Amino acid sequence: MKTQPASSRLAWLVLALLTASSAGQADATEGADVFDGSCAECHSVSSSIKNKKGPSLYGVVGRPAGQVPGFDYSDGLKASGLTWTPDKISAYIEHPKAVIPSGKMKFDGLSDPKERSDVIEFLTTAK
Ligand code: HEC
Repeated sequence: MKTQPASSRLAWLVLALLTASSAGQADATEGADVFDGSCAECHSVSSSIKNKKGPSLYGVVGRPAGQVPGFDYSDGLKASGLTWTPDKISAYIEHPKAVIPSGKMKFDGLSDPKERSDVIEFLTTAK
């Protein structure tokens, strides 16, 4: 049996790795792009807590909803009793009104599950 040249085996390995990463793991670097494109207009993740149209998202993953000092949250969000686990954030950014009907995040939602998991991965690095 003829062995394949090393370069061709390497090409297969690279292809397999690329396929695995695009199909599976959340990626904080891609999440940073999603954040810039979809969230940064209203949210900052800087450690020097800064509220824009929306509250600072610095350290938001795992935190109870409505805790950022100086941000005027909606009554719906304050009363939600939610903690921002990755699952809850995912549901919220998919369809904000489905999670907090009287909330005031005016965002159409991210329908792509990969974009949601990437941006949440990015948010977990912001703490
Ligand atoms: C048009 C402005 C706008 C955009 C775009 C937006 N948000 Fe928001 N976001 C808000 C506002 C306003 C609130 C406060 C909602 C309330 O009080 O009901 C909020 C609240 C939140 C909260 C709850 C924070 C807390 O302290 O309880 C999370 C999490 C969040 N947004 C994530 C995101 C993510 C992730 C994106 C991008 C995928 C995004 N938002 C896009 C305006 C926005």
